[in-house]
Amino acid sequence: MTEIKDTVNHDADKDSNGDNHFGFQSVKTEDKAKMVRDVFDNVASKYDIMNDAMSLGVHRLWKDSLIDTLKPFPGMSHIDVAGGTGDIAFRVLDAVRKKTDDPEKLAKTNIAITDINEQMLNVGRNRAIDRGDMNQFKFFVGDAETLPVEANTYDSYTIAFGIRNVSRIDVALRDAYRILKPGGRFLCLEFSEVILPYLAELYDKYSFQLIPKLGEIITQDRDSYQYLVESIRRFPKQEAFTTMIKDAGFEKVSYRNMSGGIVALHSGWKI
Ligand SMILES: C[S@@+](CC[C@H](N)C(=O)[O-])C[C@H]1O[C@@H](n2cnc3c(N)ncnc32)[C@H](O)[C@@H]1O
Repeated sequence: MTEIKDTVNHDADKDSNGDNHFGFQSVKTEDKAKMVRDVFDNVASKYDIMNDAMSLGVHRLWKDSLIDTLKPFPGMSHIDVAGGTGDIAFRVLDAVRKKTDDPEKLAKTNIAITDINEQMLNVGRNRAIDRGDMNQFKFFVGDAETLPVEANTYDSYTIAFGIRNVSRIDVALRDAYRILKPGGRFLCLEFSEVILPYLAELYDKYSFQLIPKLGEIITQDRDSYQYLVESIRRFPKQEAFTTMIKDAGFEKVSYRNMSGGIVALHSGWKI
């Protein structure tokens, strides 16, 4: 059986020697972004199918919960970072549409989707075209650490299952703070620490034994999904990540566990 606990360092995004990590592998910080980009290049076309298969569709509920917390409104200016194939951005627009069908108000609603990976964005663009919504979104390539966006631009910033892939998480959090308007909200959905002991054991077995196999069958890429499960274990626990969000300048910082801590929704405000 895969040995998990001894190799895990939940409380840091760097190794003790200052290097970064790619799953359980130690890598140089400057190499990590390219390795992550390769992972998502490989899986982009099957990414959405794999999400449903791995989570048995539950990722949809986690994402819906993020949107319920965000409470999108007509005329808002929103950015979804590490937005991949557009799932969060589409939900933001759907929530706005529930509040208004006035074309003028919809035209003033500005929803940006950015990602370091062009292939993932291309899948997202195609989905937006299929929805007939291409005009509602602005897609652009951007690294969460250095977004090509002016300070104080957005009312809200979301990042779902993206931040654990970022090489320097503290830098990305500070950039999130920079581009939010005063009063703006930061929301991050990320895999976290399972807090129910019986579930933790089951989840470990499921993650390490089944997910890479599913990856192999569905995407013919076992390694990318091995990285996925390892990167989840390397990500800081709920409390440690809460501290990082506070350190970036956010206030009223809180989090909520979902599915026993498999995922946590973190929130902070720029005040
Ligand atoms: C697991 S996917 C999540 C996609 C989408 N947010 C979702 O919830 O379905 C992670 C995404 O993070 C992107 N990513 C990784 N590192 C990034 C970085 N430094 N800046 C921006 N995006 C990044 C990847 O390209 C990938 O699309």
